[in-house]
Amino acid sequence: MQTLAQTLSAQAVNASLTQLLVTLAETSIAISGAVRHGALAGVLGATEQENVQGETQKKLDVITNDMLKDALKADSTVRGIASEEEDYVVEANAQGQYLVSFDPLDGSSNIDINSLVGTIFSVLPAPAGEFNEQSFLQAGRNQVAAGYVLYGPSTMMALTTGQGTQFYTLDPDSQTFLLTNDNVQITPDTAEFAINMSNQRFWEAPMQTYIADLLLGKIGPREQSFNMRWIAAMVGDVHRVLCRGGIFTYPTDNKNPAKPFKLRLMYEANPMALLVEQAGGKASTGYETILDIQPTEIHQRVAVILGSANEVDICLSYHGIDY
Ligand code: AHG
Ligand code: MN
Ligand code: MN
Ligand code: MN
Repeated sequence: MQTLAQTLSAQAVNASLTQLLVTLAETSIAISGAVRHGALAGVLGATEQENVQGETQKKLDVITNDMLKDALKADSTVRGIASEEEDYVVEANAQGQYLVSFDPLDGSSNIDINSLVGTIFSVLPAPAGEFNEQSFLQAGRNQVAAGYVLYGPSTMMALTTGQGTQFYTLDPDSQTFLLTNDNVQITPDTAEFAINMSNQRFWEAPMQTYIADLLLGKIGPREQSFNMRWIAAMVGDVHRVLCRGGIFTYPTDNKNPAKPFKLRLMYEANPMALLVEQAGGKASTGYETILDIQPTEIHQRVAVILGSANEVDICLSYHGIDY
């Protein structure tokens, strides 16, 4: 089986980006070790700090953020970083060609119940000149690589460098990622959806109607039964969609009018959208293709509807968008 470096070499990925992706892979292997030690390493539970999102940070949110920040600052290819757990962008190396945005631990609420968590990352080219938050405000279409690492029963990495989406599995013996699927393809049709149903009364009318029609099953306009899954970690839900198709959404809601969206554009929606598009799926807000959004700030949030292409199109048709 091919290693990560061998696969990137076969894709003719340049030496700098290869170095950066190897840094991300090696750091995630170290994170996998910390996550696996759980209570034995005293890493479970919460801290007393809040992040810029207004969430109480878990100990592992802080530990994994520091591991990634330290490793990326030490990598000469990195110009700077942005993280869910950092209020501001962090400058790294003056000569670095890349900007890395990351969610160091996605699915924090799963940590204390020993369920799925992962790391999500997005790599953008660093513009020439001064480094600041503005450097990161590029559409997701500009990403030169994106991926996630899932700390599940096996540790897996999904990665794209714009040449399809690949899966790697961590070999626990050699502690290296080996290529286990070189061309992930999302089935265009599906009978499975993922949404936090407890927010139903807070959704916009189009999403209310779309989900209601799925729930009607064979007696409704869709004339088929749909199954539902919700892992409560975007990495886990998107991984399932990449493996066997499906539609995943965290739609607009008015539960808290000051915060109509949950997921973050730069380090959740954009990298997942690129992985999904590269696997033949689609990713939209309901009104706009995610990868075409011009960001206005690093922590901005968006509605997300992604997965099997035909099912995303059907969902968009409820939003008045015809494909
Ligand atoms: P994070 O743990 O990085 O803050 O992200 C959590 C996100 C995402 O992973 C998941 O899809 C969603 O929150 C779960 O939301 P609910 O708590 O509404 O299920
Ligand atoms: Mn969080
Ligand atoms: Mn997250
Ligand atoms: Mn997180």
